[in-house]
Amino acid sequence: MIPGMGAVATTLIAGVEAVRRGFAKPIGSTTQMGTIRLGKRTEGRSPLIKDFAPIAPLDDLVFTGWDIFGGNLYDAAKTAQVLDRDQLEEIKPFLQSIEPMPAAFNQHYVKRLDGKKIKTGKNKCDLANQIRNDIAEFKTKTDRQVMIWTGSTEIFLEPTAVHQTLEAFEKGLVEDDPNISPSMLYAWAALKEGIPFANGAPNLTVDIPALQELSKKMNAPICGKDFKTGQTFIKTVLAPAFKTRLLGVSGWYSTNILGNRDGEVLDDPESFKTKEESKLGALEYIFQPALYPDLYKELYHKVRINYYPPRGDNKEGWDNIDIFGWLGYPMQLKVDFLCRDSILAAPLALDLVLFMDLAARTPSLRGLGIQEWLSFFFKAPQHAQGVYPEHDLFIQHTKLKNTLRHIMGEDLITHLGLEYYGM
Ligand SMILES: NC(=O)c1ccc[n+]([C@@H]2O[C@H](COP(=O)([O-])OP(=O)(O)OC[C@H]3O[C@@H](n4cnc5c(N)ncnc54)[C@H](O)[C@@H]3O)[C@@H](O)[C@H]2O)c1
Repeated sequence: MIPGMGAVATTLIAGVEAVRRGFAKPIGSTTQMGTIRLGKRTEGRSPLIKDFAPIAPLDDLVFTGWDIFGGNLYDAAKTAQVLDRDQLEEIKPFLQSIEPMPAAFNQHYVKRLDGKKIKTGKNKCDLANQIRNDIAEFKTKTDRQVMIWTGSTEIFLEPTAVHQTLEAFEKGLVEDDPNISPSMLYAWAALKEGIPFANGAPNLTVDIPALQELSKKMNAPICGKDFKTGQTFIKTVLAPAFKTRLLGVSGWYSTNILGNRDGEVLDDPESFKTKEESKLGALEYIFQPALYPDLYKELYHKVRINYYPPRGDNKEGWDNIDIFGWLGYPMQLKVDFLCRDSILAAPLALDLVLFMDLAARTPSLRGLGIQEWLSFFFKAPQHAQGVYPEHDLFIQHTKLKNTLRHIMGEDLITHLGLEYYGM
């Protein structure tokens, strides 16, 4: 169940159908192509993750969702201009068969969009209950459900009193509290229905105690936020490399041009602020300047996103990194990532849906609320209170695989390896 059926969602859904029909491979998907080593290196046991853990097969997936634009997903995919026309033609009837339901939307939270197909109601509680009705209807047609937000980036919100407890939040729904955004209505509705919720955007949504409380109460896992796909993905590979070699970093300037609708939404300063906060966090946590003041205390970090229509979904992200080595001698590294936003995001969305479904079926995970083991997929991973988030991509990857080993009763892999030398 997908609130926000734009570029990422249509690329996900069209992609799953293309894979199911044998037209393409699920490249970039951990659940579909990843393997997992089990036992010692001498054992030669490395099954596919999907054969090791009880991950739902692609053939079992059924899609629905909400959007503010009318029309079916074939039209939405054409508008998004991510996939080739020929590829879309092959699966046209399938995409035409899915039409988003009217959205709970308010332009106050996404300034650059104007809602066409939107729900009306007497207050936010009414709107959220309409979403619950949509969910209940979908439940009659499916065995299990997962919700993933691939809707637009909302304006920057900070936690306030209404977000602190479930009671305050539910009162706020009735009183139309302005600090409750549309994405929170979907999340509340999903969790109330016992359905896991993943947040692909940088919105505050489930980063609030009220919905974390509801998540635990309902055994409905949550995770977020903001898919780690392009520039931050590369950043969280390079930064740990510098830190591991104890190379200093004095400056990191990141800029992007993109021309899709996401870029248009992010052109609004209030939505950009939400994205900026999400993108800035990683370096601070990876470099730990308090532990390494000589290397990272003076780091100047800047992130820019510029809306540039000619590029469409094909984003270009530049990084200029000023580093220094032995005796303080300066060096530079430049990265120019000519990427495709939704092509990078779609497999992550698929993995999140399948892993969240697995989490909801796993007794030792479903009552935890936040699924920190899915940090691998996010720019600003949710984490337990009192600990800092883990941003290093390879630590996140190890954590994900060890969680799978743990839930399947396999030994965790520590990489100690003394046993190979007779110890
Ligand atoms: N690589 C990536 O593409 C990437 C990476 C990280 C995060 N994201 C985030 O994922 C989200 C989706 O990106 P996209 O490129 O698909 O954008 P998009 O603009 O193509 O799609 C978003 C859709 O959400 C809809 N929407 C907005 N508010 C809604 C509401 N309240 N209810 C229902 N629908 C609503 C819009 O109408 C739009 O169709 C964005 O927030 C983006 O920042 C994308």
